[in-house]
Amino acid sequence: MSVVRLSHLTKVFSHDTKAVDDLSLTIGDGEFLVLVGPSGCGKSTVLRMIAGLEEVSGGDVLIDGEDVTNWAPKERDIAMVFQNYALYPHMTVRENMGFALRLRHTDKAELRDKVDATADLLGLSGLLDRRPAALSGGQRQRVAMGRAMVRQPRVFLLDEPLSNLDAKLRVSMRAELARLHQRYGITTVYVTHDQVEAMTLGDRIAVLDKGRLQQVGTPEELYQAPANRFVAGFMGSPSMNFATVELRGDADRAAVTLAGREFAVHHRPELARYLGSTVVMGLRPAAFALAVASGPETLPVVPLGVESLGDEKHVLFRLPSGGPDEAGPEETGPDDVPVAVDEAAATELWTAKVGQRAALTIGKRVPLTVDLDQAYFFDPATGDAVAAAEQAVLTG
Ligand SMILES: Nc1ncnc2c1ncn2[C@@H]1O[C@H](COP(=O)(O)OP(=O)(O)O)[C@@H](O)[C@H]1O
Ligand SMILES: [Mg+2]
Repeated sequence: MSVVRLSHLTKVFSHDTKAVDDLSLTIGDGEFLVLVGPSGCGKSTVLRMIAGLEEVSGGDVLIDGEDVTNWAPKERDIAMVFQNYALYPHMTVRENMGFALRLRHTDKAELRDKVDATADLLGLSGLLDRRPAALSGGQRQRVAMGRAMVRQPRVFLLDEPLSNLDAKLRVSMRAELARLHQRYGITTVYVTHDQVEAMTLGDRIAVLDKGRLQQVGTPEELYQAPANRFVAGFMGSPSMNFATVELRGDADRAAVTLAGREFAVHHRPELARYLGSTVVMGLRPAAFALAVASGPETLPVVPLGVESLGDEKHVLFRLPSGGPDEAGPEETGPDDVPVAVDEAAATELWTAKVGQRAALTIGKRVPLTVDLDQAYFFDPATGDAVAAAEQAVLTG
């Protein structure tokens, strides 16, 4: 049982570029913390510094209050599973799993019991005499996990352990990991670039971007009250849509203009200081719905793509510019639809989530409703959420 504390942890590889920049974070006893962020943001470097495989440039690693920053990896009692876990091909599953314990000259009977118990838990009992070549990808992954678990380390570090598996296997391994963690309760740091994996596995999630910690919280906290635009765009699939909009009116009757149409913004006292200027508005795909008919508060969009996911559809579109030609009839054929696109937002493809039964054709304009009560707002200069705390209260 162990608490891991990272204090101002920093790693500079070269040219002053900080792979990890002043990271302070405490992982509680028995906690399952997911470290998530895009490729290259420093996740593996953080894990390697915790494990002692990478020297730190600054800051400290503490385990149970003890400063282990300069300890050798094997003195830390940490087990790590890598994305490209390598099993010893000439060894059986049993030998692979018992390897670390054998190195420690563990008593033979004890070693056997521990391997048997772990294999049982992982559903590997029937495979103990096989060599890795005779196993499926999922089974090999399990052996790699088993090899790390057998010695019951103080801390478990997992670096994208499921990314080499196919989608279905990933889902079942996710469930298995959660079960194993519940059973053993070993303090775990799990690294992934996949926000779905982060949302489903983590007690808490730490979001990293360019080596800097963006936010730490439960999956719900990060989803409902993202601290900034980066977290908002990273958590949730498909991603949140963003537009820089002008905020007009007064505190009681504020409105934004989207695609040339005015949309009322209700009950957002925190937006007061942005009145008369611009603010970044974020809308998740679920904030849209297909409108019954076009009207003053609907968004006329021309689907550039329609993805059917079985129980819902995703409509891809660019934010229309809102010119006068947009009042054209909805029946307009695909060839003569004036696709007037907002120049400023022209590169950004937006996504709306609509019901499976929505009748949609690529190129044929449809009206969408927008639920501004679900809108998020960010400061255009800093990207920080506008009064995130108040927003959290409002969304319960
Ligand atoms: N040994 C190294 N030498 C120089 N740069 C490195 C080294 N390892 C990682 N980096 C750089 O540090 C940054 C973070 O890398 P990494 O921790 O592997 O990211 P992630 O695991 O999030 O994909 C990247 O820009 C990467 O190129
Ligand atoms: Mg990595």
